[in-house]
Amino acid sequence: MGRPKITVVGAGNVGGTMAQRLAEKDEYEVVLVDIVKGVPQGKALDITQAGPVCGYSTRVVGTNGYDETAGSSVAVITSGIPRKPGMSRDELLTTNAKIVKSVVSALVSRSPNVILILVTNPLDAMVHVARRVSGLPKFRVLGMAGVLDSARMRSFIAAELSVPGPDVVAMVLGGHGDTMVPLSRYTTVKGKPVSELMSKERLEAIVKRTREGGAEIVGLLNTGSAFSCCPVWFSARASMD
Ligand code: LAC
Repeated sequence: MGRPKITVVGAGNVGGTMAQRLAEKDEYEVVLVDIVKGVPQGKALDITQAGPVCGYSTRVVGTNGYDETAGSSVAVITSGIPRKPGMSRDELLTTNAKIVKSVVSALVSRSPNVILILVTNPLDAMVHVARRVSGLPKFRVLGMAGVLDSARMRSFIAAELSVPGPDVVAMVLGGHGDTMVPLSRYTTVKGKPVSELMSKERLEAIVKRTREGGAEIVGLLNTGSAFSCCPVWFSARASMD
């Protein structure tokens, strides 16, 4: 029994970083797909070549097609256009829905038992598109959003209180957009309610910054969106457990 195969579709900032993180885990076979000739192949080669120094022997395959994705356990879909400063995620809907439909069809026809993790925005709508096009049961079509938004809230609270991020437990429910619901009343730092550790005003400011966390990074980067990927990796790992 070989290593589980994880496919990453989209070899841009998010996909490339995701492939690197997966390679470093040294537990999977990784396939990186993109439509741009040479990009997935070049990034796959580069990540593979770092293995001897970084301590992994993961085989990363770059391709412009989908045949190499056959038999994937998990497929992370990052392909689509990113937001530009001032844009809402919803403005990406028409373009990215077309892309996600074609990607999901190509993936599922070769990996009928795959778990799909969507990253492409507008995230919630893309999960719906992927579920409808794939015909997979709902527990096999996941959106990576809550874990990213919760990570942001935890990071803001950790900075505010000068505590380690892992000591903060926070939960953000709802959609990956302006309607998300950061649940400050269920947020704790080493088990202590955060409402006992900072003022209501500061907590409300952190809730607002969490909602706007994606747009803040898009505004700074100007040419793309967040890509740290750890949350995506977390979703991939959780989906396989
Ligand atoms: C963000 C994108 C990934 O929130 O939606 O940064």
